[in-house]
Amino acid sequence: MAKERKKHIICIANQKGGVAKTTSTAYLGAALARLHRHVLLIDSDPQCNLTYSLELEPPQLDFCLENNLASVYESGQPVEEALVSIRENLDLIAASPDLVMTEVTLDSQPDTLSGEPERLLNRALAPIANRYDYILIDCPPSQGMLTLNGLVTADWVLIPTLASVISLTGLERMIEQIHEIVQGEPPLNPNLKILGVLLTKFRKDRTVEIELEERLRSLPEEFTVFKTVIPDRSQFELLGELKAQTGKHLLDLSMVSYSLLPYLTLAMEIEKMLRQRSWAQSAGT
Ligand SMILES: Nc1ncnc2c1ncn2[C@@H]1O[C@H](COP(=O)(O)OP(=O)(O)O)[C@@H](O)[C@H]1O
Ligand SMILES: [Mg+2]
Repeated sequence: MAKERKKHIICIANQKGGVAKTTSTAYLGAALARLHRHVLLIDSDPQCNLTYSLELEPPQLDFCLENNLASVYESGQPVEEALVSIRENLDLIAASPDLVMTEVTLDSQPDTLSGEPERLLNRALAPIANRYDYILIDCPPSQGMLTLNGLVTADWVLIPTLASVISLTGLERMIEQIHEIVQGEPPLNPNLKILGVLLTKFRKDRTVEIELEERLRSLPEEFTVFKTVIPDRSQFELLGELKAQTGKHLLDLSMVSYSLLPYLTLAMEIEKMLRQRSWAQSAGT
């Protein structure tokens, strides 16, 4: 029987687009896999950017066209049948453009689906969740039903954001949605916690970004900002073009690659954080 693992389900969410949700999901997943953790990536965005960024082989891509998150939602397909093994430590549940219609169905005709519309992902993942150390869910740039399913399923939410005034407004809305999920009547997911806010595409040569970072770090505890900051890199190895650029797959990048390195640091920060929280919990603090 497969070893039971201590899964951590992390939703990577922010209703703002372009803040590096997908990039962070892919690179953090690759970093955790490089640290020998068993990782499942879930592409929950109809744009399918995560699915394409992993540069699957043609037979795997063909498989994903038929077996993906939309088929799990819409036809109740067992999630096990939609798993794609990318490497030993890294699996994927792909997205499909059909997720656009899935979201409409979840919103307007939930009766046609079997189960509460905001809990379908949670229920679907239950049989396989314990096989993984980490399940990372890449959310679309909206607060709709696909994001809600991710947040209802997760233990943690990681919020990537740019250090710009407009992005911080988006961050407030994200935190309001999390409060509603945790404290609503009844709460949709009382266990959901903010793992941290991740500053992405950060430019330390811009005073405005440094000032915003300081402001964020001085906010109360629930806004924990990761010590690791993801720098803006013109040399960033673009997902979906890695093979063309470097001849390598995401998981074959050197440990000191421009793009992977900050995410390895983030992966280690997250592991330390989760260890400390589980000690604190078991000590009853
Ligand atoms: N650290 C970075 N430096 C430079 N460009 C980045 C960085 N992280 C992501 N990008 C680029 O920013 C764009 C948006 O990233 P993406 O991950 O698709 O955001 P989201 O999923 O939030 O919409 C992509 O073109 C991506 O390659
Ligand atoms: Mg995205």
